[in-house]
Amino acid sequence: MLIDRLAYGGDYNPEQWDDATIERDLELMQEAGVTVVSVGIFSWAFLEPEPGRYELGWLRSLVDRLHAAGIGVDLATATASPPPWLGRQYPETLPITREGHVLRWGSRQAYNPSSQVFRDKIAALVQTLANEFAHHPALVAWHINNEYACHVHESFDAETEGRFRAWLQAKYGSLAALNDGWGTAFWSQRLSAWDEVILPGLTPTYPNPGQVADYRQFCSDTLLELHLLEKEILHRANPDIPVTTNFLGLLESLDYWKWAKHVDFISNDSYPDPADPRGARSYAFEADLMRSLGGGKPFIQMEQAPNQVQWRERNAVKRPGQYALWSLQTVARGADGILNFQWRQSKAGAETWHSGMVPHAGSEARTWREVVGLGRQLTGAAAVLGGEIKADVALLLDWQNFWAQEAAVGPVEEKTALRGLRDWHASLFERGHVADFAHPEADLTGYRIIIVPSLFRLTEAAATRLREAVAAGAQVIVTFLSGWIDDAGHAVLGGYLRPIRDILGVRVLEMAPFSVVPYLPGTGEVLDPEIDRVSAAIVAPAAAPLVDLVDDFGAPWPGNAREGADDLAVDDERVQVVARFGGTDLAGRPAITMLPGARGSGAGWYVATNLDSRGRDTLLARVLDSAGIVEPGLPAGVSRTKRGPVTFWLNHTDEPVIVRGVTGRRCDTGESLAAAEMVLPARTAVLIED
Ligand code: GLA
Repeated sequence: MLIDRLAYGGDYNPEQWDDATIERDLELMQEAGVTVVSVGIFSWAFLEPEPGRYELGWLRSLVDRLHAAGIGVDLATATASPPPWLGRQYPETLPITREGHVLRWGSRQAYNPSSQVFRDKIAALVQTLANEFAHHPALVAWHINNEYACHVHESFDAETEGRFRAWLQAKYGSLAALNDGWGTAFWSQRLSAWDEVILPGLTPTYPNPGQVADYRQFCSDTLLELHLLEKEILHRANPDIPVTTNFLGLLESLDYWKWAKHVDFISNDSYPDPADPRGARSYAFEADLMRSLGGGKPFIQMEQAPNQVQWRERNAVKRPGQYALWSLQTVARGADGILNFQWRQSKAGAETWHSGMVPHAGSEARTWREVVGLGRQLTGAAAVLGGEIKADVALLLDWQNFWAQEAAVGPVEEKTALRGLRDWHASLFERGHVADFAHPEADLTGYRIIIVPSLFRLTEAAATRLREAVAAGAQVIVTFLSGWIDDAGHAVLGGYLRPIRDILGVRVLEMAPFSVVPYLPGTGEVLDPEIDRVSAAIVAPAAAPLVDLVDDFGAPWPGNAREGADDLAVDDERVQVVARFGGTDLAGRPAITMLPGARGSGAGWYVATNLDSRGRDTLLARVLDSAGIVEPGLPAGVSRTKRGPVTFWLNHTDEPVIVRGVTGRRCDTGESLAAAEMVLPARTAVLIED
């Protein structure tokens, strides 16, 4: 964004308000320290009331007024919510579900990403906006569309099918290559003409996994085409104005690594549930992900709720202090701005009961006081602007891996990689560490620890990167369900993990799931040994929810195995066994192994199960120690993050906490502290500048 302060503000939807309210809004924005608002996100119906007739005067006057009030404008391209006339006059722009239902206007995001008519209409609208505003002095950024794929990311229609075929032709080059890639030699699926290639619609049973994985990438790429179409128009009009589109955390349907290359800065929308004590953790996860998507550069928190949302079954409020505390945690992890949805709470429509920075009750409400309070804290934190953070730990993340694993029919239903990323990040968060995310094929040699949660699809290039990282001294932790398929999406033969057996020293011969809910049609009766003379004598350990772990002497190892156990082949005699399975048919077999790197201090750790939180924590403590990383060792509920010259002290608890050895200048009061004790009030962030 083109501003020299931390951004603070929110979505501003003034179409809902009269002139006097807008005038009052400008005063209130100044009172709250607002520096930027996002305007026009849902304005298409007002900007183009009928096809080809544009009314931009009202927006021009609003942008002028904001500018006069010293507030920057993140101007949206308004393409996220087509007006009713578009769907009525051009039904081909409406998306069709897999079941064949048309999604009509009356909500939002009702567009078919493949529709050429839709593309022509947004191009014309965006060009018109660019002509009018590209050189307006208030403009600090362009906000393309809004939350792509939040509601709709696909359409099952002939136009999309045609684009899917063209996409596959570009990827495979020939039908023979496609047949090979998809493994159509099985189940008589051999395709003999391109016209036989169809979208993965409704099928009698499992669709082809290769087709489904490709389709997921195609959908992400198709929406990216819409983004690029708009971006090119905007950059042509004025290349100096940065563009963004707001991401949605770890959204499964868009390959954000690919998208991130096509925005000038990363922005994100984040809505953790305040009813869940894991809310702060979840915010931290998204902040770390966004910073990583931007290659370590600052990002903007484009949306969050000033207080409660309206779309959960029951919508918890943020507790007093949490709004600022969580926002500042996001700044600590790399945000250069905090924006909310939305500035003024709506008085009608679908989001009437979603909080706004200006609540229905006005400035008497707690929300408003907290909004003003955060504005002040952000003003005081100016020194953080542009500061980068260096993480020692990276978690490997790849959307193609998610899609390949989800498209696979077995070996397990769970989204292991997605969940593994959250679990391992949580373990790092709880110990007070910031982590980066990285693509498995990126250069990893700067990291001291690399965690690879369930990288089911392990490419040759990723194997090379991991090898380089261990050679450079990194501790690499690979977890179960990694290395099952190759670049082509085909099963790895000769033992899973084979491509990285040199750094781990082990391969997976078989995986035995447990926590299995037995599939026994027609019987719920408990077995009675006196009657069920055969069945009651059969032991079925697969149903056990957990399996204990032991050390080499058979003593309990802290933590349990969940979901499955690999039967490992140990190929290298230097492999050290860290823990073994206690129960199951694999009792005594290795559950966690470590192979020291040939040179330097690196090592390859393998976790042959899904560890519970205690198990992850135990292992992490050991690996952090091996990597020489100093642990923060802070009181429970307190975290500390340094960004640029500012140290963020966060107290998430309900009690004041005393911390010691704090030196520097308090950003809020200006007071100088020298090795003093500092009291962190309950649910508060205190910022100290060097
Ligand atoms: C999304 C949208 C916003 C708003 C919020 C409400 O993030 O982008 O327009 O609907 O949800 O939480």
